[in-house]
Amino acid sequence: MAGDQAIRMALFGPPGVGKGTQAVLVENAEGIAHISTGDALRKAVADGTEVGLKAKAYMDRGELVPDDVVIAIALDSIGREGRSGFILDGFPRTVAQADALDKALAELGTPLALVVNLQAPEDELVRRLSGRRVCARCGVNYHIESKPPAVPGKCDQCGGDVIQREDDRPEAIRNRLRVYEEKTAPVISYYAGNSVLRNVDASGAADMVFERVEAVLKTVNGQSVR
Ligand code: AP5
Repeated sequence: MAGDQAIRMALFGPPGVGKGTQAVLVENAEGIAHISTGDALRKAVADGTEVGLKAKAYMDRGELVPDDVVIAIALDSIGREGRSGFILDGFPRTVAQADALDKALAELGTPLALVVNLQAPEDELVRRLSGRRVCARCGVNYHIESKPPAVPGKCDQCGGDVIQREDDRPEAIRNRLRVYEEKTAPVISYYAGNSVLRNVDASGAADMVFERVEAVLKTVNGQSVR
């Protein structure tokens, strides 16, 4: 069971806003589980599992993977890894997912303390996504301008090949932004009126954004979320 001190939060926002980048910083600072449905799905694709085979075509096109598949992955991860708190990255991404999460956490008696809505202008999202590169072996993120690997094409951490994600190509980026507006942005209304929702400006350098995330993490409605 998660104790009273556990942090249970979600990072929300459009593709490329920096959810993964901020989630790793929070994970390292707070020592809580980082649960990324995108990473879990990419692992399933790489492992060639049944879920991965089903998900790959959706992901490559920049479409959402069906709710039943993603909800099962997220709730399973929360059950296995989230006992001492967690940071959700890329989940929930539809109103149905938000509803399933709420119900599951209510049953456990451990509701979300915070939903951080990261915001940045669309041209900045496109710049971040089109310049992103990832390690094909360990998954570490790079950016050709703001965070290039020391040796071009090679991961600083494991020496693996640094590549471009299939869904970071221009057509898929356009589709992901469209899908975000249509299916994911309505989740903001789902949480609106609920004191857990906090908007955070995600423009500027990653460490500056992290300071803003930490500031809202420390205090929600005058009370610590820990
Ligand atoms: P997922 O991997 O979650 O993709 P996403 O939400 O589109 O988010 P991204 O990973 O593209 O961006 P991010 O916000 O994490 O930004 P990042 O930190 O990497 O999901 C992929 C696919 O899986 C989906 O399209 C869907 O098919 C499926 N899926 C996943 N979850 C699902 C769900 N719940 N339901 C249904 N389907 C689901 O940063 C981007 C780049 O910018 C990096 O290069 C980074 O270095 C750079 N950067 C970050 N912050 C800064 C900064 N402050 N300044 C400069 N550069 C920065």
